Parts: sequence; structure tokens; C-alpha cells
Amino acid sequence: MQTLITEMFEIKHPIIQGGMHYVGFAELAAAVSNAGGLGIITGLTQKTPKNLAKEIERCNKMTNKPFGVNLTFLPVIEAPDYPGYIKAIIDGGVKIVETAGNNPAKWLPMLKENRMKVIHKCTTVRHALKAEGLGCDALSIDGFECGGHPGEDDIPNMILLPRAAEELKVPFVSSGGMADARSLVASLAMGAEGMNMGTRFIATKEAPVHENVKQAILAATELDTRLVMRPLRNTERVLNNKAVERILEKEKELGSDIKFEDIVKEVAGVYPRVMLEGEMDAGPWSCGMVAGLVHDIPTVQELIDRIMSESEELIRTRLEKMI
Ligand SMILES: Cc1cc2nc3c(=O)[nH]c(=O)nc-3n(C[C@H](O)[C@H](O)[C@H](O)COP(=O)(O)O)c2cc1C
Repeated sequence: MQTLITEMFEIKHPIIQGGMHYVGFAELAAAVSNAGGLGIITGLTQKTPKNLAKEIERCNKMTNKPFGVNLTFLPVIEAPDYPGYIKAIIDGGVKIVETAGNNPAKWLPMLKENRMKVIHKCTTVRHALKAEGLGCDALSIDGFECGGHPGEDDIPNMILLPRAAEELKVPFVSSGGMADARSLVASLAMGAEGMNMGTRFIATKEAPVHENVKQAILAATELDTRLVMRPLRNTERVLNNKAVERILEKEKELGSDIKFEDIVKEVAGVYPRVMLEGEMDAGPWSCGMVAGLVHDIPTVQELIDRIMSESEELIRTRLEKMI
């Protein structure tokens, strides 16, 4: 399958693995790239630019295919050393950056001067147009279904993707709720040039997370995610657990008076405990509704091969026959 996204990133299949905190290590990024997709290392999971440089070096040893690095711009008071991280990306020979979170305007010149291809992930057409205007090469359009931060507009992909297609000039991929061939073919029908997956890639053999995390995704249905931090306008879709229930209770109790300090104990430092130690109730961790479509733990190669062969089958038989 050839699309504007496979051409732009020089990959075999139009499938991207989105940056994921404490999941997007070299093992997963390399596995996705080796299977013909685009693997992404999560920049900020590495505590310093030096650590990111080492992670990129490890990934370079595991694959000779293109891979990218995710840079998430967080609404925090003390910003991470973004120039240092960008330098590590450039020095490591990486050519693709997935930006997400806040507007990437401040860092885009540095990335573009170094001939990076930038794909910006966002949850509204408004933000997508802004990123396109700034010079991003492609967009990842993240619907309300997505694991992680769906924004505050709550537009699901059945509407968001065709709306993006109506407005954007640069190519985009669908993101949020994507799991299989049906997701890919539907995304292409709605104007996307490929798809980005998060949650689905966690339940693979190579994802370097605790087995408990994979089993929790397998056991979850589409009814099992919750939105936390909505009153703080920092909404995150997470898998329900005891900590999430406590946070939601607190949000109800404090209403619009709630401050980040009121829940900080429940959310700080949670990711390594969940992802590496398998403490499933340690706190809220991002997970998409798409968990309801995840029923196995294949290798990344098996997953991607299955998506591509079933997509071809869907297009050539099911859809073709309807004409
Ligand atoms: C555990 C987890 C951690 C994530 N961490 C990040 C992150 O650090 N930066 C980011 O841009 N997106 C992050 N995401 C979002 C994914 O890159 C992707 O956009 C999202 O998972 C797509 O929705 P899906 O889970 O329905 O596939 C995370 C998602 C998950 C599930």
C-alpha cells in the first residue's frame, strides 16, 4: 500500500506507533519500524537529553529502518530541556519527530533547519490548521476515543477525520480508536493517509512493559476507560482502577474549586510503577476505548502483517463486491 505518508516517511506500511510514556522505548520503536511501520521513541520518558541520545543509539542498533522521536510539549512551569532533547535527536541521525501537546511553534524552526519531518498530533481541526500554517509536514488527528489526552472538544473520529480532510492540505493519519484492518480502511475512506496506534501496540510481545499491563488491556472492554482531570482542562483518558475512582470522587466533591495539588499524589510518578512494576492500581494511566477491540498479544510483525493483509482483503472483496 502506497500513500502520501508511506512516501513521506519512507516506510512500507501506513502505520505509526504513537509516542507513549514509559512504553515507547527502543524495543517497541525498533520492532514497529522493522515490521514496516514507523516506530517512535518517547523523548521525555528519558530523564535527560543524554539518556535520550543513548536510547536513540540503542534503537539505531536494533533497526536500520526509519524511526522517530516524540516530543510532548507539556503545560508545566519548569519546562524540560527541549533544546537539549532536540540536539540529541539531530545528533542521533533521527529524521522524524512527532510533536504533541502544546503548539510546537517555538521549536519548529530548530527542527526544520535540521531538515526534520515533523508530524504534529492534535485533537481539533483548529489546532491542525495552526500546525499546518506553522510548517508541520503532516498531522496525526487524535479523536475523542484516544488513550491519553483527547483535549476538551470531544469530537470522535467519524466526524473529526472527514472534517480534517475538508480543511487540511498536508497529509494526515487517523489516531485514537485504531486497532485493525477495519480501522485502517475506514481511515483511508475518511481521507487519512494512514493510522497511528497507541493502546493496540502496548498489547504486543515486544512492548517492554509489565505483563500485567498487557493483561489489563486484554481484559478491558470499551466501557472501561474514564476521563480524569477534566475540571483542570487537562483531560486524560485512562483505564479505570481504584486510584481513578478516588480522583473522580474528589473531582465531584471539589467541583470547579479543584486544583492540581488536590490530586497530585494520585498522579505523580505513576507511569514507571504501572508500566515497569505492573502495579495496576498505582494511579491513572492512559488507555484508549479501543482496548475493547484488543483480544490478543501478537508480535508487532504479526499485528502489522495481519492489518495489511486484512485491509487488502477488505478493499478487494468486501468493498469491491458492493459496487
Ligand atoms: C500509555 C500511553 C501513554 C501515552 N503517552 C503519550 C505521550 O507521552 N506523548 C504523546 O504525545 N502521546 C502519548 N500517548 C498517546 C498516543 O501516542 C496515541 O496518540 C494514542 O494512544 C492514540 O489512541 P489509542 O490509544 O486509541 O490508539 C499515550 C498513550 C498511551 C496509551
